[in-house]
Amino acid sequence: MAFPKNFIWGAATASYQIEGAWDEDGKTPSIWDVFSAQPGKTYNDETGQVACDHYHRWREDIALMKELELPAYRFSVAWPRVLPAGRGAVNEKGLDFYSRLVDGLLEAGIEPWLTLYHWDLPQCLQREGGWMNPAIVGAFEEYTAAVVKRLGDRVSRWMTFNEPQCFVGLGTVDGRQAPGYHLPQCDVAHEVHNVLVAHGRATDILRAAGGDRYSIGFVPTTQSMIPMTDDPRDIEAARRVFFNYTPIRPIHWTISLFTDPVFKGEYPADLLGVIGKDLPAGWERDMAGISRKIDFCGINLYSGRNIRAGDDGMPVQVPQVPGIPQTAIKWNVEQETLRWGPRFLSERYGVPIIVTENGMSSHDWVHLDGKVHDPARIDFLHRYLLGLDRAIADGADIQGYFHWSLMDNFEWSEAYKERFGLIHVDYATQKRTIKDSGYWFREVVRTNGANLG
Ligand code: FCB
Repeated sequence: MAFPKNFIWGAATASYQIEGAWDEDGKTPSIWDVFSAQPGKTYNDETGQVACDHYHRWREDIALMKELELPAYRFSVAWPRVLPAGRGAVNEKGLDFYSRLVDGLLEAGIEPWLTLYHWDLPQCLQREGGWMNPAIVGAFEEYTAAVVKRLGDRVSRWMTFNEPQCFVGLGTVDGRQAPGYHLPQCDVAHEVHNVLVAHGRATDILRAAGGDRYSIGFVPTTQSMIPMTDDPRDIEAARRVFFNYTPIRPIHWTISLFTDPVFKGEYPADLLGVIGKDLPAGWERDMAGISRKIDFCGINLYSGRNIRAGDDGMPVQVPQVPGIPQTAIKWNVEQETLRWGPRFLSERYGVPIIVTENGMSSHDWVHLDGKVHDPARIDFLHRYLLGLDRAIADGADIQGYFHWSLMDNFEWSEAYKERFGLIHVDYATQKRTIKDSGYWFREVVRTNGANLG
């Protein structure tokens, strides 16, 4: 196996998906509290008001991480806990929770990896226009500064944004996620740009506080593009679909819309041709600030599409074979997903890549023997990690893998229908049960992947 000696193994969660305690200790509603409280927005009208009750059960959850021997844990902070008015007064009680959590992780020998924004915007800022309003950048700076001030002595791994493609696209274009809007492209372009500017400003704040001691990343997502064969023409065709504008997906799902500005300081020319006219006036002046040097590119990948080169070399999508394996959420199981996406990113940007999310949902339950048998997740993980190993063997600089998720949780508009965890959660009793896949992943961690064969 090619996993380097210091490869980082971990599992990931996000605040709204696990914490519950939605109105405790001074927290105000986030856009997800408001969205999920509206009838018809989530599966069975379920909300994250209680979720995994992690806000109260964090000690038990750290003990489970310890049992799984996880070296690293990726979580996010809820902005409305820290700054209940979105900006201004800091709520120390909200920060106390994360401070206790970080202490508990460090005591257990688990490295905290902190995401600043995993979608739970304070509703009061949404009311001002959310990411459309450039004033949000200043609010995000205040929020970042408050988190760093309190936790920055103990946390050194930071991620600014999780999946802008989703909170912009699913949230404000398709309306399937919070805040549930259908905005036109002229407004979406402003959101994209404001998120990027906020990323750059947060990076400056982090760097000023922690210098080289801090490792700072940005976490986009997309679908992997998988060449049908190892023929260089197919590889080039897949790379083109991965990075270039193509009518097969909306513009905000083109990963380079976010990653080229962050890692190269420019919007890609083909995308600029489509949205350039809609960007805020003077956007060019922001590019240097957006592209401050950061330490890694995170990537969340779950599935992929197969691509081949046509006779003219142009990409052609290979038709889907009927009945191909799918997870419960109906995402295709494509073994080479982690072989190609991370490699393409590594080649284009020359920064270390960390897989910050990957996993699958299935309909797990506690069996009569009291255990949770989830052989499909083990097989999925095994296949995907073999793909990742291949990318590393091929020369891509990939430095870590975080499984999504540590435990079953509130899967956004799919709510509790989908189970992504290495740990099963019975939401009626909040009882946790480590799944077979959790123990299997522990072996991967213990052997640094040598058990993958
Ligand atoms: C990603 C999200 C994460 C989780 C997984 C399944 O898009 O970042 O919160 O919902 O999908």
